[in-house]
Amino acid sequence: MRSSILMMLLFFLGYIVCFGEMTNLNNSFVDEKTLQYFSDFKIKEELKVVNKHVTNIIKTIHGDSYECVDFYKQPAFDHPSMKNHLFHYERLRISSLQNSETNNENFGYLWKNGIGCPTGTVPIKKVTKDEILRLNSFSEKYKPQGSWNFTYNQIDNQHHFAVSRIKRGKRKVYNGATMIANTYNPKVKFPQYSSTRMHIQFENGFIQAGYTVNPKLYSDNKSRTFVYTKRGLLSSQCYNNMCTDGIITVRPDFPLGSVEEICVRGRKKRYVQRYGLLKDKASGTWWLDISGVQIGFWPEDMFQESSANNVEWGGEVYSAHMPSPQMGCGYFSVGRVRYDSIIYNITLVEENFKIDERVKNREVFSDNIYGYRVANDIYSDIPVKNIIYYGGPENI
Ligand SMILES: *[C@@H]1O[C@H](CO)[C@@H](O)[C@H](O)[C@H]1NC(C)=O
Ligand SMILES: *[C@@H]1O[C@H](CO)[C@@H](O)[C@H](O)[C@H]1NC(C)=O
Ligand SMILES: *[C@@H]1O[C@H](CO)[C@@H](O)[C@H](O)[C@H]1NC(C)=O
Ligand SMILES: *[C@@H]1O[C@H](CO)[C@@H](O)[C@H](O)[C@H]1NC(C)=O
Repeated sequence: MRSSILMMLLFFLGYIVCFGEMTNLNNSFVDEKTLQYFSDFKIKEELKVVNKHVTNIIKTIHGDSYECVDFYKQPAFDHPSMKNHLFHYERLRISSLQNSETNNENFGYLWKNGIGCPTGTVPIKKVTKDEILRLNSFSEKYKPQGSWNFTYNQIDNQHHFAVSRIKRGKRKVYNGATMIANTYNPKVKFPQYSSTRMHIQFENGFIQAGYTVNPKLYSDNKSRTFVYTKRGLLSSQCYNNMCTDGIITVRPDFPLGSVEEICVRGRKKRYVQRYGLLKDKASGTWWLDISGVQIGFWPEDMFQESSANNVEWGGEVYSAHMPSPQMGCGYFSVGRVRYDSIIYNITLVEENFKIDERVKNREVFSDNIYGYRVANDIYSDIPVKNIIYYGGPENI
């Protein structure tokens, strides 16, 4: 406990060092307040103008180009809700994370330069004009969704799901969820996609985090991390930190949309990734965790509601009127970790910020069991808590 507070403090001080220079802030903000547990500092909108727009382009080890954008010049800061409004930036180890491991991972190894972007900037995937046009042409049907409004064998279903989800019933409130998923590389054809993700539903908005094969978004067939934000009923939606409705990232060294190592079915070596969407109790800020590291956040007022009322974990594919794409490893589960796409050690953060590791109140849902299947908690040959086997072949 003590060491985690220390870690938090170090992290926080590191941050001040990082951004202090960039933002031209006086040292005056390093007062006793910042040394308190729930410290925050406020940065005025005008400061954005003060900053020099530091830009350069760097490449990941996979050859993807990212632009290093000044922290305060991220697209999300252009959202109307961020205008003329004090921006509260909280650096704190959030209460809902207390039980999870603190991970000081450094993502420098993902970059050709071994470091990532300069301090005070964050990497944003460079998109071409064509990609922007494509992204803007997303139809409603194309957009990521939760499974709750879908029924079994629905006609003209361009979306398919195989998920484990909170049962309907008594209205509950959640302040976060986590999962570990092994990464596969399902086959998809343009403009389809196949995602393995966690979906947190607010009344109207939602957040998804996981990995996706999405040639329309990423112009290739690789499995890449993604986070998707829908703020509210009528608001526009956004992948990663690419637009005003998206997440605000904080790490100079983590490339959202980066290529993930993939599992080969049958091989012992598994590549897994840990994802968390967690609300900070003190500030109401929602955080994205990947690998146990805080990657970025959404201020509470980005959403119309402050807490989630539904959560699901699993696969979502979009078929675009074609034979549907693979999900997960591309096979139905055989109940063996080495052969299956799995999601495990899922947790929920309850209304009182207690962590629920059992997540008992769940049901499985697949809208078409000829294409995609899912099972909770059957047999597992590795020591894990909850395990969800999901996935399936293409062509339904
Ligand atoms: C920094 O300090 C100077 C003088 O002490 C003050 O005029 C200025 O407004 C301060 N800047 C910020 C960003 O607080
Ligand atoms: C599900 O459908 C209801 C009624 O049509 C609608 O109000 C609600 O927003 C939908 N929920 C989602 C998550 O799409
Ligand atoms: C993705 O894979 C399909 C075949 O599996 C291929 O036709 C297509 O060109 C690939 N797309 C990209 C962007 O690499
Ligand atoms: C998953 O949970 C099990 C049981 O608590 C634990 O032994 C294991 O270390 C966890 N796995 C990871 C990767 O956190």
